[in-house]
Amino acid sequence: MKNIAVVILAAGEGTRMRSSIPKVLHTICGRPMIDYPLLTLKSIGIQNTIVVIGHGAGMVQEHLTGIKCIKQDKLLGTGDAVLKTKNVLLKDNKIDTVLITCGDVPLLKAETLRKLISRHISTRSGCTILTSHLKNPTGYGRILRSGNNKIVKIVEEVDASIYDKVIEEINVGVYCFDKDALFDALQEIKPNNRKKEYYLTDVIGILAKSDIIVDSVSTDEAEEFLGVNTRSDLMQAEEVVRRRVLTDIMQKGVSIIDPNNTYIQEGVEIKRDTVIYPYTFIDNGVKIGPKCSIGPFARLRQGTVLDEEVSIGNFVEIVRSKIGKATKIRHQCYIGDTVIGKRVNIGAGTIVANYDGKHKHKTVIDDNAFIGTGTVLIAPVKIGKGAVTGAGSIVTKNHNVPAGKTVVGVPAKILKKIKR
Ligand code: UD1
Ligand code: CA
Repeated sequence: MKNIAVVILAAGEGTRMRSSIPKVLHTICGRPMIDYPLLTLKSIGIQNTIVVIGHGAGMVQEHLTGIKCIKQDKLLGTGDAVLKTKNVLLKDNKIDTVLITCGDVPLLKAETLRKLISRHISTRSGCTILTSHLKNPTGYGRILRSGNNKIVKIVEEVDASIYDKVIEEINVGVYCFDKDALFDALQEIKPNNRKKEYYLTDVIGILAKSDIIVDSVSTDEAEEFLGVNTRSDLMQAEEVVRRRVLTDIMQKGVSIIDPNNTYIQEGVEIKRDTVIYPYTFIDNGVKIGPKCSIGPFARLRQGTVLDEEVSIGNFVEIVRSKIGKATKIRHQCYIGDTVIGKRVNIGAGTIVANYDGKHKHKTVIDDNAFIGTGTVLIAPVKIGKGAVTGAGSIVTKNHNVPAGKTVVGVPAKILKKIKR
């Protein structure tokens, strides 16, 4: 895929989102929308990507550090947006094919893009369009074909005649172009349409007229090309991605008791034979080892890493913490910025007070420690190997508990053995 460059169009305003955040930065399962096409492209080995940005360019660019962005100052249409990449792409002699997609179409699958690209390369077409057939094609550009089924042009909804409007084959908005054919034809497009925009789709008619092959690949999975324009589209996309994430995790040997009530973000790693109970929320970047039991009603936030056989029960919140093998945290706890060793038992209602109002501090609980019910650990503090805290004790900051000792009370003090 070295000779392919991708242009992702993402300059649009997204007015219907009614938001001060650029559309492509709205999140789906914990990740900005624009990350999804980028991840999919990466998974099929395409790294050479240019994102055309415009509305909220600063914020989008900041999110996309390391990825080439080109600004389209005035939103003059999709054709104009692609023209902005001309100088960069024409200079690059290694590139002969340009794949174009949109930043607000996050659900396209890798297989579909692969199919589009391989068809394009094998037929040596000037353009290969991804199309679909919809019972209700309203809103999309329609594919016009001649008597011998050759694609003649694309007509946009706003410019369509009543005859065009009944055509059910639509332009998904994803295409593969021969680079030179694309930029030659883009030179010729004019804003002679209802919207007074430079339409990328006019390139198709120009190519067809010059007897350059325009081919298509069809997809019937409407879900894949859902364009996110409103909050309700965003919710639909969230549902699709959530189901994909859960399916992928289950395929790796993890049990999810109730997928309709389990919220796992994109980019979570869970090893086999772990069981996830309902109403569990897991943020991206969390790593969970094998044979763990999570939930119901658990919340694992960013930076949580669980070793094997860890048991996390109801109403437990964990953030930026590492939990060792076979440790149990079963009931109503908050654990933040903490490293917990192996076989530790954290009693019901234990709270790590990691934040003093200004800074967050670290807590360490070593192997085999036993933290009594309702303990408060005021960070920074260390609980030694096999140490015990009594029920309701408050271990104050820097009052580390030595290995094997028991502390009790408020503030917690070492319990001395009474000689009889
Ligand atoms: C476009 C296609 C239409 C297709 C549909 C699929 C054109 C003219 N029409 O229509 O045939 O069926 O997508 O969803 O291309 N953008 C820019 N700069 C601009 C204008 C748009 O970057 O000046 C970006 C938008 O952010 C968006 C994408 O291009 O990501 C598509 O633009 P949009 O205005 O939504 O096109 P549609 O009317 O949906
Ligand atoms: Ca659109």
